Formats: sequence, structure tokens, C-alpha cells
Amino acid sequence: NVENRDQWGSRLGFILAAVGSAVGLGNIWRFPYMVYENGGGAFLLPYFFAVLTAGIPMLVLEMGLGHKMRGSAPLAFRKIKEKYETLGWWAVLVTAVVTVYYSVIVAWAVNYMVFAVKQSWGADPNAFFFKDYLGATGFWDFGSIKTNVLLGLAVVWGITYVILYNGIKEGIEKASKIFMPLLIVLLGVMVVRGVTLPGAIEGLNHFLEPDFSVLKDYNVWVSAYGQVFFTLSLGFGIMIAYSSYLPKKSDVVNNAFITAFANCGFSFLSGFAVFGILGYMAQAQGVPINEVASGGIGLAFIVFPKAINLLPGMNSFFGILFFMSLVVAGLSSIISLVEAFTSSIMDKFKMTRKKAVTVVSLGGFLCTIVFATGLGISILDLVDHFLNNYGLAVVGLAECIILGYLWKLTTVKEHVNQVSDFKVGNWWDISIKYITSIVLGYMLIMKVKTELTVAYGGYPTSALMTLGWGLVIGLLVLAYVMKNISWNEDVLLNVDAAK
Ligand code: PHE
Ligand code: NA
Repeated sequence: NVENRDQWGSRLGFILAAVGSAVGLGNIWRFPYMVYENGGGAFLLPYFFAVLTAGIPMLVLEMGLGHKMRGSAPLAFRKIKEKYETLGWWAVLVTAVVTVYYSVIVAWAVNYMVFAVKQSWGADPNAFFFKDYLGATGFWDFGSIKTNVLLGLAVVWGITYVILYNGIKEGIEKASKIFMPLLIVLLGVMVVRGVTLPGAIEGLNHFLEPDFSVLKDYNVWVSAYGQVFFTLSLGFGIMIAYSSYLPKKSDVVNNAFITAFANCGFSFLSGFAVFGILGYMAQAQGVPINEVASGGIGLAFIVFPKAINLLPGMNSFFGILFFMSLVVAGLSSIISLVEAFTSSIMDKFKMTRKKAVTVVSLGGFLCTIVFATGLGISILDLVDHFLNNYGLAVVGLAECIILGYLWKLTTVKEHVNQVSDFKVGNWWDISIKYITSIVLGYMLIMKVKTELTVAYGGYPTSALMTLGWGLVIGLLVLAYVMKNISWNEDVLLNVDAAK
């Protein structure tokens, strides 16, 4: 029944949870490097353009849809039209798989928080990470299970389970009220330490020094759109699920703006911390910045441990701080990922939260065990490549097309404008129907083209066919199967009543 749907306790609670989902590893290890690589300060132009023409419009769209339909992605799309339910499932199934490997990275960060105490990674963090810690192997040799990783995974899934079990207000909202302020403090201390190190200014110069010639390269613009989608957790059904728990009277447009800008703020903070420390590292080693600048797993688990070794004091303290910020940022995103999936199961099968959370967490944890083997990092890299490139963009594009062309976009617009102080105008429709659709469509075509010409990461075809394409297609089939499972009678009555 719609009436007894869980609800956020306060507006702040919802915003902190949405920001918690948005702010994740992407802000810390992806944004700074992306700016550095794509023209420094000049990249901010395409970036903010993408925030205004895709990020915020899609946030308003997903939040508005969740709020209006009061349901997770499958239910929300089902309320539009029966056949669109498949899209909702495809979104949350992609989400489910992303959760599995995202939790692995956070588990590593949990381990590294402990390693930071004594810098257990030693003088060669690269060899430590791949050989000693992960025992990395090649396809299809699974090697052995690493106990540390398994323990980290148990911690991550245990915390997620407890938070979600307690529900929206008592679980997610309370956790977000601790996580977000904590993350600001952690990042704040790192920024201060980072920018006051010798050489930091050099690092920051390289980070932000604008190269305006990149603006002519449309790939830079496309990258900006890709980053904005990922960083705002769009195309996962997350914002739809979170907004389905908002009270009837909630200012959707304002919430979307606040979420987007808060996420940008965290990205900049991270950029200053990361490049300050990289600048110091380059100076300490007497190498140019491009030899240390990096992003992703390499930055977090190899370059940063090296930088922590080099710090002029309080090494353990800053090591712990850094990995703790990854853990906190990552956990609040994982919570949102798991909730998007859990709420879909709850809606479809009219299952209680406690039961759904238990089933999903246990299943999720068991699926992650394969990532504790020697093949873990390769599987992670491969699955991430395919799902991030195709999952997200396809869902985003389908959302734009269904809502922009096949259904009436004005229905959502009227709804959000009715509940919001600040109203969206024509720029909103234009952004979704034309700008976002075209950029996403173009992005997809170009990516598929490259995919078919070069084998990603040099992995064997057997791996690409199963864990790459196989997974993408498998999830699509599964989404269709889920759509065809019949709804619980009561829920369906409600759906029809809502039409
Ligand atoms: N927005 C997150 C980040 O920037 C990534 C993410 C996407 C997290 C989707 C959860 C869901 O890291
Ligand atoms: Na983000």
C-alpha cells in the first residue's frame, strides 16, 4: 500500500543520503585525474555545461519520477506502461552487479586502513598490492582465496546490512548524518595537509592549469557527460528509489540542485587534496608530475601508499585518514546501490524490508567471494568496463527516450513544478529531449565501435564474451524475465489505481 511506504524523517536527511550516494570513489579518484588529463581548468567548462544540461535535468527527472510514482525503478516504469518495467529491472540489475564489485574496492580500503598503521605495504606498494595482497593471477586461474579481502568484504556487507535493515529513517538517514559530516572533516584535514606540503603548488598548477585547445575536441565534452552521469549516480534507479520515500510535499527541483552542487564541492576538495599530495611526491622523488599523476585503483592502492611512505611525519595518521575517506565515501554509495535493488524486490513481491534486506545482503556477500580470489581484480576491471560504459548510458538514453518522446515529459514537469519553489522551464525539456539524448547516443555508438575494433584490456575473447557481452545481454534477458513475473495482487491494484 502506498500509504505505508517508508519515509525520510527530514529534508536534510534525504539530501544527505542523496549526496552520500553521489559522493563516492568517483569524486576522489576519478574527478581529479579526469580534470588533469582533459585540459585542467579548461575542462571545468564542459564539466559545468554537462552538469547544467544533463546532470541536474536528469536528477530532476529521476527524483520527480520516483516522487510522483512512489516506487522503485521497476514499479515507477511499470506505472508509466507495462512494457517499460523491463527498463526498470535492467537498471537495478546493473546496479546489483555494480554493487558487488564496488563493495570489493571498499573492502580493500578497509584492509588498507589497517595496513596504513604500520605501512605494511613496505617499500614496493605495487608488488605488495598485486602479489602479496591480491595474489593476482590471469584468466582462468583462480589462485586462492585471500582471507584479508574476505574479512574486508564481511565488514562492508555487515555494515550495509545493519543500516538497511533499520529502514529509511532509522537506518539510511541516521547513517548519512554521520557519514557526510565525517567525510567533510576527513577531506578537510587532507586538503590542509595536502596544500601545505612543499611542492603542492606545483601539483595544483598542473591540476588546474587550463589548456583551452581541448575545447575543440568533442571527446572531451563526451567525457564530461560520462563523468557527470557516473558522479551523480544517474541511470541506476537510485535517485528514483530514494525519492519514492519523500513526503508528498517535497521541493524536488531544489533538492536536485543541492545534491549536484554538493557533489561538485566534494570533487573539488578531493582534487586539491590529491594533487597537493601528488605535487609533493613528485618533488620528493625529483620526477615530473606526469610520472605520479594517476586515477582509479592505481592511485588509491599504489601511488598513495608510496606518497604516504614519503610524508614528512604522521604517516600512519594520514594513511588511515585517506583510506577511511574512501571507506566512508564508498559505504554511503553502496548503501544506495543496495537500497535501489532491495526496494525493487520489496515492491514487486510485497516482501518486508527485513526479509528483502537479508536475502539481498547475503546473496551479495556470497557473490563477492569470487573477487577474493586471484582473478578478482581482472574480473572487476572487465565487468566495470562493460557495465559502466553500457549499463549506465543505455539506461540514461532509454529514460530520455521513453520520458521525452514515448510518454509525456510534461507529466513529470508539471509534477515537479507543482511541488517545487524554483520551477524548471524549457531548458529542462530541451536538455533531456535533445542535448542529453544526443550526447548519450553518440557516446554509445562511439564506444561500441571501439569495443569491436580493440579487445578491451587485452583480455582473452572467452573472458570478453562471458563477463563482458555475456553479462550485458544476460542482464537484459533477466530484466525481461523479471518483468514477466506477476506482481503481488495488492501492489498491482495500486499500480492500476495510479494510472
Ligand atoms: N556516484 C558515485 C561516485 O562518484 C558512483 C556511484 C554510482 C555510486 C552509482 C553508486 C551508484 O563514486
Ligand atoms: Na560522485
